[in-house]
Amino acid sequence: MDANLSYDLLRNFTTPVVAITAERGGKRNGMISDAATRASIVPDVPRLMILVHKFNYTRDMILDTGRFAVHALHRGQFELIERLGFESGRDRDKLADVPHHVGSLGCPILEDCWAWFECRVINLMDTGSSTCFLGDVVDLGRGPGKEIMSPGYMRANLPESWRQPYLTKLAAAQDWARARSGDVRAVVWRGLKA
Ligand SMILES: Cc1cc2nc3c(=O)[nH]c(=O)nc-3n(C[C@H](O)[C@H](O)[C@H](O)COP(=O)(O)O)c2cc1C
Repeated sequence: MDANLSYDLLRNFTTPVVAITAERGGKRNGMISDAATRASIVPDVPRLMILVHKFNYTRDMILDTGRFAVHALHRGQFELIERLGFESGRDRDKLADVPHHVGSLGCPILEDCWAWFECRVINLMDTGSSTCFLGDVVDLGRGPGKEIMSPGYMRANLPESWRQPYLTKLAAAQDWARARSGDVRAVVWRGLKA
């Protein structure tokens, strides 16, 4: 199999660039992802699925609390991608200067975005390197953003100063994930009401 071809092809199966936020014991946090997909076609049962690497702090927060918020970003949000997506929030409050309010489940809801969705986890799946969370959307809204940030738009317009740090972090995440991809476990979520 051609590994470079696989990456180029699968890159087309990513989703809009999103900020995922969570809150645990008074600590709030957020990260960036391009793996947040619609998981229901029923308008009155909206659902989202997110895939989060196990090394991310946000993943531990979601696993413990059973809630998260997804924000589809708009094309003006490169600075937010750098702030949330390049460093972990384990040792600092990445949302300190990011305007937000608290959602109905307690998750940080960012004021600036294209749209946001607050979710309760109703199931999960282990992929070895990541946890895939299925979320029931309990609240949602539009932000002021006009055009959604796609991964293709982001890559084509990466600020030059980030290109190398972005590629270095991506390669490190790939190595980390490669080493764990075979260790897929059967896991059971705690139930629809958790
Ligand atoms: C463009 C972009 C896309 C990303 N996509 C994902 C993703 O799909 N899944 C993931 O787990 N991390 C993804 N990341 C990496 C996390 O956002 C990053 O590791 C972050 O620092 C985690 O923060 P935390 O430790 O505070 O949760 C992405 C980062 C960027 C910049």
